[in-house]
Amino acid sequence: MPFVRSACVLVLSAAVAVSGTVAATGAANRSGSTIGSQGAGDPYFPSQGNGGYNVGHYDLYLRYTPSGQHLRGTATIQARATKTLTRFDLDLRHSMKVSSVWVNGTKAVAKQPASRTQELVITPKHTLPKGQQFTVRVHYAGVGKAIHDPDGSLDGWIPTSDGAFVAGEPQGAPTWFPVNNSPRDKATYRVMVNVPKGLAAISNGALKSRVTKHNRTTWTWKLTKPISSYLVTATVGKYKITRGHTGDGVPYLIAVDPSQQADSANVLRKLPRILDFFTTRYGKYPFKQSGAIVDNAPYVGYALETATRPIFDRAPSESTLAHELAHEWYGDTVTLKRWRDIWLNEGFAEFSAWLWDEHSGGQTGAQHLNQLMSLSANNEIWNPPPGNPRTNDQIFSDSVYERGAGTLQALREKLGNKTFFTIMRGWVAAHRYGNATVGEFTSYASAVSHRDLTHFFHVWLYKNGKP
Ligand code: ARG
Ligand code: ZN
Repeated sequence: MPFVRSACVLVLSAAVAVSGTVAATGAANRSGSTIGSQGAGDPYFPSQGNGGYNVGHYDLYLRYTPSGQHLRGTATIQARATKTLTRFDLDLRHSMKVSSVWVNGTKAVAKQPASRTQELVITPKHTLPKGQQFTVRVHYAGVGKAIHDPDGSLDGWIPTSDGAFVAGEPQGAPTWFPVNNSPRDKATYRVMVNVPKGLAAISNGALKSRVTKHNRTTWTWKLTKPISSYLVTATVGKYKITRGHTGDGVPYLIAVDPSQQADSANVLRKLPRILDFFTTRYGKYPFKQSGAIVDNAPYVGYALETATRPIFDRAPSESTLAHELAHEWYGDTVTLKRWRDIWLNEGFAEFSAWLWDEHSGGQTGAQHLNQLMSLSANNEIWNPPPGNPRTNDQIFSDSVYERGAGTLQALREKLGNKTFFTIMRGWVAAHRYGNATVGEFTSYASAVSHRDLTHFFHVWLYKNGKP
């Protein structure tokens, strides 16, 4: 959901220096370097992610005590070397101090260089041959602390009065676990969180167990479909939990902060119907669980489509709920390849909120588009063009959401419902649990509709100003 845009746009200077990371990595490979690069090559966030390996699974054990914000963790990561490695990085912010790192059970040398605030540099005792599977175990502890994104908003482990609101888009995950934080490196997760008795810890996927010992409770969650690290949560607080099934038989688990219960009940009641509706339009619900987390953390200013169970900073509106649930298809199943592809997430989710509004007897998609088009050419809503937000502080701009949603409604009107929804369904099916670019979508839409849509997408996605 377009969050209340913060007036303070911090760190503008950090906005997008087109990095040489990709080129540098290539060169290093050619020269036979055995060092994994310290970024995954995204021009908007050059030091995000790492090179030289892919992660298959994260097993996280966390212990959190809200008083003092003390967070301690053990991360056990299963990965595979994509080249011969004598050294590689994980992303972990230095608010977490690493006590030891083990690679395949042998102690490794680990450094947190002061100049690179999110890198953990690991030198294993034995070289990892290309193609080898390996296990990294990291023991760490520190103060649970958020970071500020380029657009000024809080991200990561965001302490609350009763726990923590945990979000990770676009760059918060390394505030609480060591990770290859590239949206392209999808993995499965088991998240175990030990919290004082009386508090809940809510993560993604299925709740496997809840065990109380010595006045503390360990919550264990398991997600068996691969997701990007920005979609993982481990939110802690006082929650009232309810469960049920959608009409299609997808189980849901909804956790609501007691202070938000009264305000959210009517909207949350619609969750199963919204998911069933999107299933009819977009195809089978892509995960085995669903639900929502409603916290009381309004200073966060946004909601996030954390996989299987979106998180809200307050009782959501119906359209925000629909927006986040649609992300389970667009964003969480087919995920952007680079941050400049954000339209594939936000434009699609916002269009879906329009679609739900139409379906539930509100305004039609056509009315939403007309309303958008009635805004004057000098309205801020038209820039930047959603297909190229240009700088990393603009990825969540209103244009990406609203002009982005308008793009899909205009496409729907141009091609007709039948072809349009064939494209929408086929697109998720083609990229299920993978990543894609805006260019891949526009080519796909042209191919499926047998139309040359070059001009249409140029006007809607790439041209400056009102389409
Ligand atoms: N993806 C979220 C949504 O559905 C927005 C996340 C905004 N995050 C941020 N750090 N500003 O709208
Ligand atoms: Zn969104």
